[in-house]
Amino acid sequence: MPESVTHLPALLTPVGEPPEDIGSAHPMRQITEAVADDPLSWTPQVAQQVAGFFDEMAEGWAASQSRGRGQEVLQDLLSRSELPTGVVVELGAGTGSGTALLQQHFEQVIAGDLSAEMLKRLPKELGQRVQLDSSALPFATGAVSVLACVNMMLFADEVVRVLAADGALIWVNSIGDRTPIHLSAERIAHALPAQFEVTASTANWGTWVLARSRMKESRLS
Ligand SMILES: C[S@@+](CC[C@H](N)C(=O)[O-])C[C@H]1O[C@@H](n2cnc3c(N)ncnc32)[C@H](O)[C@@H]1O
Repeated sequence: MPESVTHLPALLTPVGEPPEDIGSAHPMRQITEAVADDPLSWTPQVAQQVAGFFDEMAEGWAASQSRGRGQEVLQDLLSRSELPTGVVVELGAGTGSGTALLQQHFEQVIAGDLSAEMLKRLPKELGQRVQLDSSALPFATGAVSVLACVNMMLFADEVVRVLAADGALIWVNSIGDRTPIHLSAERIAHALPAQFEVTASTANWGTWVLARSRMKESRLS
């Protein structure tokens, strides 16, 4: 587990009324927390249930108002962080609200999602997409520079396996702990091994976490 989480002050402070808490009692929250603690709780039945849930949600997803906030939070993280270059994979890309922004920052972005219906609605110009299950990623060990998760579950073992020695995990919750699929920075740090340096902040009502692997540096020193 990393030593501690560094919390950076917010540059974008919340304005107006807080968003409705659609998250803390949501069935997806229970799955998110269970999987973060115990990857074996992600069974084929749970995977099928989650895929079916998001297949059904896909139709109205891109038009939903709340999606925009995730972009603001992701933008805040990207503009304040030092990130490695190379292959970037977005997990749980949905209909691509974060993918477009990631493409402005990185040369090679692959959008991955479990739900075929979500991926079908990801705009063609956003390029490479892969239907995948983040519990068993179709990437070689150490092959990915950045994994990005916007309102997505954490499969820590696979994150650690596929990230390069100096790789980074980007984590965004568009409305913080009111987001159904949410984990705190401390919980993410707890799920990762000690070589990760974990930084977190808030932007508007959202929260973000950057976990950077420092394996390369510790190997050299
Ligand atoms: C809450 S939505 C977020 C979509 C998008 N990132 C956004 O913020 O608009 C979660 C997405 O994660 C996908 N997902 C859930 N479990 C997954 C898994 N094990 N592997 C890959 N994608 C998964 C769902 O299909 C869904 O598209």
